[in-house]
Amino acid sequence: MKQLIKKIVPRPVLQTAIDIRDRRRLRIVPEQGFDSSHLKRANDIDLSTIFSDKEIEKTWNSDHENITSILGEDYIFDGINSGDRRALYCLITALKPEKVLEVGTHIGASTLYISRALKNISSDSIVTTVDILDVNAEHAPWKKLGLEMPPREFAKKLGSLDYIDFQASPALDFMRDTDKKFDFIFLDGDHSSQAVYKEVSIALTLLNPNGVILLHDYYPEAKQLFSNGHIIAGPFRALDRVKKEGNDIYVKPLGNLPWPTKLESNATSLAVVTRA
Ligand SMILES: C[S@@+](CC[C@H](N)C(=O)[O-])C[C@H]1O[C@@H](n2cnc3c(N)ncnc32)[C@H](O)[C@@H]1O
Repeated sequence: MKQLIKKIVPRPVLQTAIDIRDRRRLRIVPEQGFDSSHLKRANDIDLSTIFSDKEIEKTWNSDHENITSILGEDYIFDGINSGDRRALYCLITALKPEKVLEVGTHIGASTLYISRALKNISSDSIVTTVDILDVNAEHAPWKKLGLEMPPREFAKKLGSLDYIDFQASPALDFMRDTDKKFDFIFLDGDHSSQAVYKEVSIALTLLNPNGVILLHDYYPEAKQLFSNGHIIAGPFRALDRVKKEGNDIYVKPLGNLPWPTKLESNATSLAVVTRA
């Protein structure tokens, strides 16, 4: 049904309808707390140094080659794009978080790159990756997308299964129930503004001091980033509300990366949540 609506309704009309619903849903969420005291400060993350670090580039080249030789180039076709995977890998390698939480496993593209970066940090490092679906089940997205095997099997092949804890749960339930703390939280699950608003609020309570929250699909000012005109407004709208409520939260979009991302551009929708 969704696919049919997408086909017959012109994109601008569909986008307006989605936006109206998204704004209405965000409006009815009661104001949440946003204690940013455990967030890294904006000035403590020097993205240009991280992205031009020659040592990180070396490990990226060998890990990326290793991953694609095992998974094949086909693996690239879904999940976050390969330029974003590189940025995520560089951030993890530079910031050296031990405990990572990822919301939105899907086919495990980002998970595998995070796990490879963690493997270079410490044998105690782990990424807990949560998806509302059981991503390793027989009829999960990996199967529908024609991949050879589920994320767990890919991780095994890659030798990084010990660095991944797969969890099938709605993200908010997992985050409310867990007693774990994390150094780095990557949010790439439900992109509606109300979900991101609630997730960021809880994520802040799960962070160890000097922690980082990284958002995917953050379109600054809810404007298009790529030539396909596609806009996902939820994460920007959610963080805009957080800022308007007077919280000490500063979102730093990664902007243009030094390497290609998608649609012949270097733009990325990745953004770091910091405090001023
Ligand atoms: C864009 S995909 C993530 C892509 C993934 N990071 C990758 O690189 O392969 C979003 C995922 O979030 C999951 N998701 C959506 N809503 C969720 C929720 N409320 N809790 C947990 N996961 C959710 C979806 O099932 C989907 O697998």
